[in-house]
Amino acid sequence: MAVGLMDIKGQYAELQGRIETSVLDVLRSGRVILGPNVKSFEEESAAYMGTAGAVGVANGTDGLTIALRALGIGAGDEVITVPFTFYATAEAIAQSGAKPVFVDILPHTLCMDPTAVEAAITPRTKAIMPVDLFGLPADADAIEAIAGKHGLAVVEDACQAWGATYFGRRAGSLGDMGVFSFFPTKNLGGYGDGGLVTAHTEELVQKARELRFHGSKDKKTFTQIGFNSRLDEIQAAILRIELEVIDDWNARRALVAEWYDEYLPREVVRPAVPDGVSHVYHLYVLRHPRRDDIAAACKERQVDCAAYYTTPLQLQPAFADQGHKLGDFPVTDEAAAQNLAVPMHPNLVEEQVKEVAAAVAAGLA
Ligand SMILES: Cc1ncc(COP(=O)(O)O)c(C=O)c1O
Repeated sequence: MAVGLMDIKGQYAELQGRIETSVLDVLRSGRVILGPNVKSFEEESAAYMGTAGAVGVANGTDGLTIALRALGIGAGDEVITVPFTFYATAEAIAQSGAKPVFVDILPHTLCMDPTAVEAAITPRTKAIMPVDLFGLPADADAIEAIAGKHGLAVVEDACQAWGATYFGRRAGSLGDMGVFSFFPTKNLGGYGDGGLVTAHTEELVQKARELRFHGSKDKKTFTQIGFNSRLDEIQAAILRIELEVIDDWNARRALVAEWYDEYLPREVVRPAVPDGVSHVYHLYVLRHPRRDDIAAACKERQVDCAAYYTTPLQLQPAFADQGHKLGDFPVTDEAAAQNLAVPMHPNLVEEQVKEVAAAVAAGLA
């Protein structure tokens, strides 16, 4: 039987009655932009995350740009990030006016290599943007130590990591500011676009709040060039319901990951989860030099799989002016060549995981 990579329909079915009631309530209320659901969702998210506040925005990409702008980062500045991530991470830095400066990732976690960060710092560096890749928080303590030493801000791209923890702290609260995406495939996914910016000070929360509404405090006086970037009431109403079940969904994903760890062929590299850190498996990404053979066998057996970031950001045409070539970031290059995401969602059952594992094994036979 076919096994899908994700299961948005199944997740919807689980909450269908509640979601449909709440969406109808919003429609009938006549308040569809910046109403009570967005306000409540922001408060509930900040409480979940342990931050001073949270600000709903239109998508994660805007959220990252808004966070940088709230920190006063713009033209002439540099922001250090990783090239093995979705394009939006670096695109958002460029949107702020700053230059994304790439550093390599760690071979076991595929997250930012903190030791590479220090060497990339220049007098123009203003911030570090680690990515909690595939649902695993980057090494926040090591990154924070470097940021503290050099007076840099940290903006955590937690778009893929709602609910993950790092030594008891939530992803999204690990830097000065954090950003989430509610793109429908995310662990906490909306039914359209959406995003959230978190911050540890009231001042940064306020700045993000102003930036999402055209840079205005009172909606009458416009003191800066901002954004029209708001989470809408319908999305917020749905996300509030999902917030009640997200820890359960993430626990179910973790169980699926345990099955994969058990059943995948021995020679396949599994996602690493360092001590003290929890992974929420936005994606379960294995690695093997014969990735393409595995993918072909999966396709043959109707097992959905996908290779991610196969052209990493340093090699994307949009960043050609940086002059990078294959080999500049060897760990990234290898991850791009060897990674394969296999089906991962809260509704997978053990038999399906065995089926996926058998397809992977067939690819290596
Ligand atoms: C790591 C990462 N950063 C940023 C984004 C951008 O989020 P959005 O698609 O909501 O703009 C995404 C998701 O798409 C992502 O996975």
